[in-house]
Amino acid sequence: MEKLLEFKNISKYFPGVKALDDVSFDLYPGEVHVIVGENGAGKSTLMKVLSGAYTADSGQIVLQGKVIEKNSPKVSEEMGISMIYQELNLVPELSIASNIFLGHEIKKGIFVDKKAQKKRADELLKDVGIHIDSNTLVKNLGVGTQQMVEIVKALSKNAKVIVFDEPTSSLTESEIQELFRIIGLLKSRGVGMFYISHRLEELFEIGNRVTVMRDGKHILTDDIKNMNMSQIIEGIAGRTIDNLYPHTRKQPGEVLFEIKNLCGAKFQDVSMKVRAGEIVGVSGLVGAGRTETVRAAFGIDKYTSGEVYIMGKKVPPGKPDAAAKMGLCLLPEDRKLEGLALSLNIRENSVISSLKLLYPSGIINDKLEKEKVQGYIDQLEIATSTQEKLTKFLSGGTQQKVVIAKWLLSQSKVFIFDEPTRGIDVGAKSSIYQLMDQLVEEGAAILMISSDMPEIFGMSDRIQVMSGGRVVGEVDKDEVDQNMVLHLAFSNV
Ligand SMILES: Nc1ncnc2c1ncn2[C@@H]1O[C@H](COP(=O)(O)OP(=O)(O)OP(=O)(O)O)[C@@H](O)[C@H]1O
Ligand SMILES: [Mg+2]
Repeated sequence: MEKLLEFKNISKYFPGVKALDDVSFDLYPGEVHVIVGENGAGKSTLMKVLSGAYTADSGQIVLQGKVIEKNSPKVSEEMGISMIYQELNLVPELSIASNIFLGHEIKKGIFVDKKAQKKRADELLKDVGIHIDSNTLVKNLGVGTQQMVEIVKALSKNAKVIVFDEPTSSLTESEIQELFRIIGLLKSRGVGMFYISHRLEELFEIGNRVTVMRDGKHILTDDIKNMNMSQIIEGIAGRTIDNLYPHTRKQPGEVLFEIKNLCGAKFQDVSMKVRAGEIVGVSGLVGAGRTETVRAAFGIDKYTSGEVYIMGKKVPPGKPDAAAKMGLCLLPEDRKLEGLALSLNIRENSVISSLKLLYPSGIINDKLEKEKVQGYIDQLEIATSTQEKLTKFLSGGTQQKVVIAKWLLSQSKVFIFDEPTRGIDVGAKSSIYQLMDQLVEEGAAILMISSDMPEIFGMSDRIQVMSGGRVVGEVDKDEVDQNMVLHLAFSNV
């Protein structure tokens, strides 16, 4: 079969890093080619070179036998290359149809032919089995459906190559299945796809071939059927990981954290307790009210009634600083928006919330600060040559690791982790799980929201299931059953 696309010896430098180092591999029509690798390996950079957002320093991209000259976002789009990013690029106030044809409108004379656009959009949606009126405004759609609209938009431009960069990180289980159905459909129509993900179980579900990248280099490309999970993990991390979920049940101590009958706009009557030495998982579908509950408990958002206690003391509502002082910390779901000051460097971000702790005397000790931060850089395998690198230049997953380092440095007693390993590579996941286990071993309490089922089952002592803003069930580690949790998660929607 003729190759659809080929990367030939692509290299790309950024100040201080060789983000891509002589990378070559290819894509066939009707293939799902999965690209995996640790945070900062160069996956997104390579795709940005393909989309024309970045210019390679050397190397070529060959599409159907022809070298793409002077690539740019416009050129690549015209050649049939489309990107589906995790942060979706739709205009919320416009309809599905207007979004699909944004930038390549169907015209009648000089005017946009809305009627024709609506008709064509409806056809395109129907064609991929999505039954929704294309006059619907995008702001009224869930994340999963918005992503479908992006895919349909790509199809409206006759995409031959579609790139998915971590597409499932904010999708629900059923949305993921819907995405996979459509990917299967595109495959049967000969579209070639690159698929980047840190959720390794997905590879085996939809991938034909896999490419592993590390430190900007191409490590291997092979048929997925020739590979097993541990070989892939070894390729990514450069080492074997025997036990990804190291957590064992500790003897639980006193209740350190309690949410009591908390009510707010998106959650009703939520009660949860976490004891010292315990990891309590919070499972549920995206939109179940989990993030809203913990944000309110921490004091970022309002709640209308109920109480929150840390070590028996009432946490004042609406005061995150006070909550932090009392020993609570929240690792937010949206790290980019809430967790990092992008114009500050790694070290500054890491120590920002623990300055008082590091320097009780008020005198800043540069050396100590650097040592502490370096400890976490090493442990979390933060891909950077220096602590002074501005966080805005880090890869998505590396930014997340910095936020985690920041909270670990704060030495809290109660940790709320909201999707702690979303977008994080498998090597660092393993370190984060070890750190979590160590924290509870030392007597901390952890409440962990996660949509990653293996993580919930692997790390929690108890699982609280939320649905429609309420706690609908509690399951113990020893009696967990994935079906039961899923059944509960769907119970109230
Ligand atoms: N605009 C930029 N300026 C400077 N350095 C950059 C820039 N974009 C990326 N980098 C660096 O290039 C390297 C590769 O980053 P890239 O985003 O491609 O990684 P990735 O494999 O997509 O990682 P992740 O899994 O975390 O998304 C990293 O070291 C990153 O810090
Ligand atoms: Mg990336």
